Amino acid sequence: MGGTNDILGIVLAAGEGTRMKSARPKVLHEVAGRSLVGHAMASAQVAGVARLGVVIGPDRPDVAKEVEKRAPEAKVFEQRERRGTAHAVLQATPLLEAGCAALVVLFGDTPLVRPESIRALAEAVQTGNTAVAVMGFEARDPTGYGRLITQGDTLLAIREHKDASETERAIRLCNSGLMAIRGTLALDLLREVKANNAQNEFYLTDVVALARAAGHGATYVLAPEEDALGVNDRVQLSVCEGVLQRRLREQHMRAGVTLIAPETVFFSLDTELGRDVLVEPNVVFGPGVKVESGAIIHAFSHLEGAVVRAGATVGPFARLRPGADLGEGAKVGNFVEIKKATLGREAKVSHLTYIGDAEVGEDANIGAGTITCNYDGFSKYITRIGAGAFIGSNTALVAPVTIGAGATVGAGSVITHDVEPDALALTRAPTKALPGWAKAFRERPENVAKAKKKS
Ligand code: UD1
Ligand code: CA
Repeated sequence: MGGTNDILGIVLAAGEGTRMKSARPKVLHEVAGRSLVGHAMASAQVAGVARLGVVIGPDRPDVAKEVEKRAPEAKVFEQRERRGTAHAVLQATPLLEAGCAALVVLFGDTPLVRPESIRALAEAVQTGNTAVAVMGFEARDPTGYGRLITQGDTLLAIREHKDASETERAIRLCNSGLMAIRGTLALDLLREVKANNAQNEFYLTDVVALARAAGHGATYVLAPEEDALGVNDRVQLSVCEGVLQRRLREQHMRAGVTLIAPETVFFSLDTELGRDVLVEPNVVFGPGVKVESGAIIHAFSHLEGAVVRAGATVGPFARLRPGADLGEGAKVGNFVEIKKATLGREAKVSHLTYIGDAEVGEDANIGAGTITCNYDGFSKYITRIGAGAFIGSNTALVAPVTIGAGATVGAGSVITHDVEPDALALTRAPTKALPGWAKAFRERPENVAKAKKKS
């Protein structure tokens, strides 16, 4: 049984999203490295909902999987037929029957709703006579939205665009879709909704007029238009991305991060940056990146699933893939790729190198063009490089292999066996030089003739 003092959140995500023109369901498209439905769920979670339900379309194991990944405790309900937003909410009837202080309905395609708005609406329906509260916004172009019919602060009804009269269509105050209903009334009000309208659908928005007819109050809370941005096509998807990136950049700068050209840096919702991190232009933070204080991310670097510890430097033109963990003061330079590998304190991988499935000890120095050969086409193997080891340029380390602490590997080696600590290992062929050979070759009569023709 759910607590009757709690907020119940229900995210509607059963829409078809035909205008996305995509093989993927709309709610799985991403902004700031997270699915649209994941954003709605995160807002609800941050707002403090006690229980969460997500209504998805029929036969969508992919959407169910994403919901499970974002919130294993969330309940998934399938709406077999798409018969309107009130019908969609009723698919979660078992959650509603368990009771709640406030039901909050969110749309899976409206990712910019703020947790504060969710809380404000939920609070509004738990005090006084207000049974329904809606997040409204002033639309620059209200076409397509439900209009809020108001009298002062009172919300009288919501009229869907298709059902609105000419005068009602002139109203610019619109319904964002975010709505709270007092928990004790929610199920009864939803069950009263009829489908007698232009689209023959059960409109969630009808709950407003129904609540008022039963003698309860309804109200609205005003939010900026950008909070209400819904994604119906890929143009709106990019607009959402833009708004979110701007919010994230400002949030990081306010928290003590320097962005030299903020508009060229792209974050994920979960990017964590410590104080005095410096980010140069054209950097992409994919999901799961944590950068500790004082680290520098040079221009044109791409990071995902990586940890960069205090004072480490990355790039320019570096790629950190999932599982990269750079120790304090470590250096990863240009055209270096690190995957599933830890670098100890002050370890240096300065140029043109691939380090994958590896452990690199502190103060180790990896020369230009070093490759950990971690994959034989079937399995992955580990390379261990001890503290203070020196790997000469253009070395292939064929894993599984261990280079002992303090060992040196000569440039151009292909290392297939473990190297003892403090040893020198090299597989280089000895240098052979033939004095005067090049000069004699140039001076052969046939080559002299050819050289003459060319010039
Ligand atoms: C809805 C609102 C409208 C509001 C607008 C804001 C209703 C009746 N109308 O209109 O007042 O201004 O959003 O963007 O609520 N969904 C389901 N199952 C359904 C129908 C919809 O899960 O049977 C989901 C969709 O996936 C989507 C959300 O509900 O996440 C909204 O549905 P949509 O069809 O986009 O509603 P709008 O016509 O945009
Ligand atoms: Ca919509």
